[in-house]
Amino acid sequence: MDMDHIKIPDVYHGYALSHFCVPKHYEEDLENIMIPWGLIQDRTERLARDIFQDVKDEPLTALCVLKGGYRFYTDLLEKLTALNRSQGSVSVPLHVDFIRLKSYENEDSTGEIKVIGGDSLTNLKGCNVLVVEDIIDTGRTMTKLLDILNQHQPKSVKVASLLVKRRPDSTGYKPDYCGFEIPDRFVVGYALDYNEYFRDLNHICVINDNGKKKYAVP
Ligand code: HPA
Ligand code: MG
Repeated sequence: MDMDHIKIPDVYHGYALSHFCVPKHYEEDLENIMIPWGLIQDRTERLARDIFQDVKDEPLTALCVLKGGYRFYTDLLEKLTALNRSQGSVSVPLHVDFIRLKSYENEDSTGEIKVIGGDSLTNLKGCNVLVVEDIIDTGRTMTKLLDILNQHQPKSVKVASLLVKRRPDSTGYKPDYCGFEIPDRFVVGYALDYNEYFRDLNHICVINDNGKKKYAVP
């Protein structure tokens, strides 16, 4: 388990919206910017390097957990393929696949996950799989997904999650690669949503009460 990640403390006010660019349609709905887009990029570059060094020449099946993982996934793969082009002496053949899980409505976990889309999971047999996820919340969803994946006898399964939330009810699950450990706040942006809103926001931000009310499921 890699515990070597950036830890954002509980008492942390982030950055004012006025210091960066946010879409006008979200200006009233955000408390602050927790992680600016540029910092996500820099951290992702390092995660790509760590992954590259760990896999060593073996093919890797990068499995994107949609929709929340799509931006982290594309940025991580772009950085991995850059290493593939530049390193010369080693490279990692990459296969890409995409799955969707449904587990959240509003902020509450329903306790159930379903894998939808993607190639047949039987293709994972004997593969080195890297699951790419936006956020580990309680850890229950990821534990269930890993159970499902392991039933198909991959050679190995590792998990890269951009965020891990510190939650009192965490199962204790920790991903192999983690970008940032964050306080127990509801965050949006960089493809993380609140009822499908805010995916079109570059920075990872804390939603405010106005935003929660405005975009609540009726
Ligand atoms: N934001 C968006 N999606 C989530 C979160 C969050 O804070 N936690 C779990 N899923
Ligand atoms: Mg997710």
